Amino acid sequence: MEKNADRFRAARTAGFTESVIREMTRLALRHGAVNLAQGFPDFPAPEALKEAAARAIADDRNQYAVTWGAEPLRRAIAAAYMRFYGLEVDADAEITVTCGSTEGMIAALLATANPDDEVVLFEPFYENYGPDADLCSARRRYVRLRPPDWTFDLEELRAAFSPKTKAIILNNPHNPTGKVFTADELMQITGLCLEFDALCITDEIYEHITYGEAMHIPVAALPWMRDRTVTVSSASKTFSVTGWRVGWVVAPPEITASIRKVHDFLTVGAPAPLQYAVAEALALPDSYFEDLRSAYSRRREILLKALQEAGLACAAPEGAYYVMADIRAAGFGDGDGLCRAMVERVLVAAVPGGSFFQNKSEGAPWIRFCFCKKYETLEAAGRLLVEGLRKI
Ligand SMILES: Cc1ncc(COP(=O)(O)O)c(C=O)c1O
Repeated sequence: MEKNADRFRAARTAGFTESVIREMTRLALRHGAVNLAQGFPDFPAPEALKEAAARAIADDRNQYAVTWGAEPLRRAIAAAYMRFYGLEVDADAEITVTCGSTEGMIAALLATANPDDEVVLFEPFYENYGPDADLCSARRRYVRLRPPDWTFDLEELRAAFSPKTKAIILNNPHNPTGKVFTADELMQITGLCLEFDALCITDEIYEHITYGEAMHIPVAALPWMRDRTVTVSSASKTFSVTGWRVGWVVAPPEITASIRKVHDFLTVGAPAPLQYAVAEALALPDSYFEDLRSAYSRRREILLKALQEAGLACAAPEGAYYVMADIRAAGFGDGDGLCRAMVERVLVAAVPGGSFFQNKSEGAPWIRFCFCKKYETLEAAGRLLVEGLRKI
């Protein structure tokens, strides 16, 4: 069997490791712990959305949709880009509906990157981007975001670009740090894309989850970037339906043409009835999006207060729904060991910071909590942390 394992293991998978986030979810289930590790909501999806999905199934929207997305959804996505950002997007030529932004990202990379092209990634990173680059045989170039503001050094970023750079992958608002890139930072990033003739592939899945003064600026809206931006987003976070697997990619027509072909071969299409439901969701009134933000602001406050009381140091995230906590303030140094002890003895699951770094030891002083949970869940987790952390 060992021999077979080697013979039948493709070299491109050699660097893949099992997701620690999913491992923590399994451990949380085993120990009956509150799961603040994996970023999925434990509260219901909006009624209007569930009704729209049930209606779409009853209406027999049950066969393949057009491979690049049902027309009502593409029109709704285009309308949303105009409504939220004043961006004109051609629903016929510039949108591909995918199985979540996960598929959108890999389809975008497979459609644009050749073997040995370089892809620039910020570190800490969302864990899919590195393997996505590997699946295209592209080379990863990392650039550090440094605490407390998770800013980058422009010279370091510039040094990561070269004539071999095909794209930079940006995630804004950012998982795991909660950073929202400022207009100045975005201009520096896009300036390098223009200088080095590179694409910006931007994962904007948390576009509607920002706090206080922080404002999401889509890369495609920046000067001269419309032709070299591939925007990936999805219904997963905005409508609390991570299991529906409906996402989209917005890109200029010639890039969209390639992405659509890759997408067709990868998955044919996203779930048809759910596409019709997401089309309705995107047309929800502004109050839906305002309520989403205020509910997440309240969840953020509950978690931040508990973490501070438990002795962890953390900056308030400006967007997305994660907090990176510095465990050194509470006298710990090894995030991996702490997360394993916490899930068993404090009954709260978090993610070791090392999961978001190429060299895991660099993330050791951090652990990540997510707060896409009911207020009660967060309050219960808070009590457990305040009581339990000091006993470890
Ligand atoms: C930054 C980021 N991108 C993509 C995803 C996955 O998105 P989707 O459910 O649309 O595939 C997640 C999920 O946590 C995420 O945090």
